[in-house]
Amino acid sequence: MKLAHVFENNETWIASKLELNPNYFSDLSKGQNPDILYIGCSDSRVSAEELMGLQPGEVFVHRNIANMVVNIDLNCMSVINYAVNHLKVKHVVVCGHYFCGGVKAAMQAKDLGILNPWLRNIRDVYRTHKVELNAIEDENQKYNRLVELNVEEQCINLIKTADVQKAYKERGIKIHGWVFDIHSGKLIDLHLNVDQIMHEIMEIYDLG
Ligand code: CO
Repeated sequence: MKLAHVFENNETWIASKLELNPNYFSDLSKGQNPDILYIGCSDSRVSAEELMGLQPGEVFVHRNIANMVVNIDLNCMSVINYAVNHLKVKHVVVCGHYFCGGVKAAMQAKDLGILNPWLRNIRDVYRTHKVELNAIEDENQKYNRLVELNVEEQCINLIKTADVQKAYKERGIKIHGWVFDIHSGKLIDLHLNVDQIMHEIMEIYDLG
């Protein structure tokens, strides 16, 4: 890919937006009011806005390897703080994807250098659900199930934050766990029982 194409694409994109609305960019520059915070994987195949068919201004996005919500990750915690408390998003989505390289790497019990502390969080998910995962014989099925369980655990990590707990109590913010199936392009809602999870989490992590 020639990088010059990127700038040509940009010119084409500007023209297409202005054709539909001559004030498109001046409207966009007035501010943002997205309803959704999306936390997804950095994987180049999982383009947040494109797979949801959303436009600039509609979704606040945070991406990292394997869509993790790590309690001591100031980057992710700042994104949550800003999106929940200031932008007042109505929905927070954790979106994983099948065939995630980060999850695959975590399934290998070996030293992966600087990645170890990050993958450790996913390996902890494996350990927490070891009985269920080890009962799955097919490696791909096990891998896909770990992707789903990881999404669920990252939703739980979201629910452990004071910002999300307060927004849930005060204005009923919604948390969603989704998986993007790269094979079909489908977005799958895991239909997590967030009310039940919130209730259980509050027994120990009540910060709201
Ligand atoms: Co991934």
